[in-house]
Amino acid sequence: LRIGLLFGGCSGEHEVSIRSASAIAQAFQSEKNTPQYDLIPIYIQKNGIWKGGETAQTVLEKQTPPTLQPSGNRWEFPSEVSEVDVWFPILHGPNGEDGTIQGLLKLMQVPFVGSGVLGSALGMDKLAMKTAFAAAGLPQVKYKQVKRDKIWSSPCVFPKLCDEVEEEIGYPCFVKPANLGSSVGISKAKTRSELETALDEAANYDRRIIVEQGIIAREVECAILGNEYPQASVVGEISYNSDFYDYATKYTTGEAKLYIPAPLPDKIFKQVQDLAKQAFVTVDAAGLARVDVFYEEATGKVYLNEINTLPGFTATSMYPRLWEATGIPFPQLVDRLIHLALQ
Ligand code: ADP
Ligand code: DAL
Ligand code: MG
Repeated sequence: LRIGLLFGGCSGEHEVSIRSASAIAQAFQSEKNTPQYDLIPIYIQKNGIWKGGETAQTVLEKQTPPTLQPSGNRWEFPSEVSEVDVWFPILHGPNGEDGTIQGLLKLMQVPFVGSGVLGSALGMDKLAMKTAFAAAGLPQVKYKQVKRDKIWSSPCVFPKLCDEVEEEIGYPCFVKPANLGSSVGISKAKTRSELETALDEAANYDRRIIVEQGIIAREVECAILGNEYPQASVVGEISYNSDFYDYATKYTTGEAKLYIPAPLPDKIFKQVQDLAKQAFVTVDAAGLARVDVFYEEATGKVYLNEINTLPGFTATSMYPRLWEATGIPFPQLVDRLIHLALQ
């Protein structure tokens, strides 16, 4: 089988995607692991133009984006695209994890790893995702939807909006663009002036914004694998010294510590696994996802934070490490995902 590894993409998580794809390509390199597959790497530049052949191979090897090649047409694909039997999109964030690429691959009528259009779109948009979780009765912190026009439009509306946030959510609160990942555009606000700045910052990234009640909780994550009958991995925990799990903490070596398995009471461990499976089914995800959960130790409660339908997949990322600890090593995980795409 010829596997089209699709990476890069028009998103703030372009660099993370390259690192994820390199790790997957390495798993293919060992003939022993994957004798039945040929890899076709396809790199999507930040401007949306697809590059195959040597360009894609070099990006994978160097693990950094090359100088942007402006030449090319967004609707002209490298010739090897027609040879792909199964796509493995490993694109994070908008234009890759949100159903857009999934729609294109579906139109091509070639199977692909991961969630379809609906699961990807619901998993990406934090407001749509939370609405779906709420309808399924899954536990979440209080949140409020805010639209960009209320922030940037008339000066009379903005103070009223901030009053509403203070009344309905209070401080501290987290302000997030609805459609991003890796903590890009997210701020924690403890005062009115921080709230104003946070809303303005989030509005730079998205029309749709979410404000959430900030809680003091441990951050735990569970990996899911499967289609109709998903399996949950052991639960992992993240700890860090920064104020929250922001971009720098996520991607600077040594800033965050991962504990696998998480040192949790058995009951909570199981509750997180069940919640993760429910979240997966609720958004109609497929193949893989990582579900992030808050465990509020003071009350013993768990709250669903989010589902990531194309989670970070570098060799040191939580998703593959959770499966490794559950008994599925990296190359086998890649193999399982390809089989799930063909089901
Ligand atoms: P992303 O999709 O960018 O990962 P998250 O919603 O997971 O965004 O938020 C990023 C981080 O911000 C979380 O891992 C956590 O550290 C912090 N955070 C987000 N929401 C809350 C909240 N309601 N209470 C406490 N911390 C939060
Ligand atoms: N959005 C990043 C890649 C993650 O959730 O792992
Ligand atoms: Mg997150």
